[in-house]
Amino acid sequence: MYSDKILMLNNGVEVPRIQLGTWLINNDDVRKVIRQAINVGYRAFDTAKDYGNESGVGKGIWNSDVERSDIFLTTKLPASIKDYEGTKKAIDDALDRFSLEYIDMLLIHSPQPWIEVNRINDRHFEGNLENWRAMEDALKAGKVRSIGVSNFLQEDVANIVNNSSIKPVVNQIEVHIGNVPTDLMKYCKNLGIQIEAYSPLAHGRLLKDPRIRTYAEKYHVSPAQLMLSFDLQLGCIVLPKSDNVKEMQENLNIDFEISADDMADLVKLKENTQTMAV
Ligand SMILES: NC(=O)c1ccc[n+]([C@@H]2O[C@H](COP(=O)([O-])OP(=O)(O)OC[C@H]3O[C@@H](n4cnc5c(N)ncnc54)[C@H](OP(=O)(O)O)[C@@H]3O)[C@@H](O)[C@H]2O)c1
Repeated sequence: MYSDKILMLNNGVEVPRIQLGTWLINNDDVRKVIRQAINVGYRAFDTAKDYGNESGVGKGIWNSDVERSDIFLTTKLPASIKDYEGTKKAIDDALDRFSLEYIDMLLIHSPQPWIEVNRINDRHFEGNLENWRAMEDALKAGKVRSIGVSNFLQEDVANIVNNSSIKPVVNQIEVHIGNVPTDLMKYCKNLGIQIEAYSPLAHGRLLKDPRIRTYAEKYHVSPAQLMLSFDLQLGCIVLPKSDNVKEMQENLNIDFEISADDMADLVKLKENTQTMAV
């Protein structure tokens, strides 16, 4: 089963392939959601400063019966911060909010502040290198175990790789049936950068799509399981979000394989709208 599958990142750190996304779970509710997720078998969680729920996620982790070392926690810098000192402070503030001694994976959430996305061409190459330098220092200080990026295009990844000594371990991007950025995925793979698929269920939009339902019926699985297996078979780590125990269990229980022919058809399936990056 994929729930048992662990992947090794390019820095030797091991990470579960199915992780719980927590965007839009509020800070009061997320503590209980994390506990429930741990009870059904999740050991990895994805959050961000910009989700406003880091302290609740932290409480969920340290109130659980599982050892801290058995949990993999990812968070992301505020997208608005693009300088060294601001990044350094943001990392210390995140550790305070979690009340934890280290973060397993820290990502640059976006190469651009949210307000500029799809509006302004500035890719903030210098600012992202400032972020990265502070993240490398946090890595050396033991505050984080791995560092990576999110929503980075090829040029943004190249900027980090060509100007730094430590490579990102992951690029967290939107990947699901209907949205497969093949060139970017290949580019990252060739550099040894693991793809993490966010919004693997297309934020829920595609779960009622008759085309997805037909394939799900063929494999006797739910539409969500079909969509997650698709991303896993593309080699991604997946981050399905749910605050419902039954759905959480369903999303962890992926033990079938989509045929090569059906994968080829599903890769071509198109959806017009895109989830906003957050
Ligand atoms: N880096 C970035 O910029 C970025 C951007 C977007 C997302 N993310 C990360 O990726 C995670 C997942 O993405 P997402 O939150 O956009 O959406 P998603 O995981 O693609 O879809 C979540 C939606 O699907 C529903 N759902 C989940 N499992 C289901 C199941 N088995 N059956 C039926 N419905 C199901 C959820 O319903 P319920 O909520 O009712 O359970 C929710 O409405 C986020 O939480 C976040 O951690 C990162």
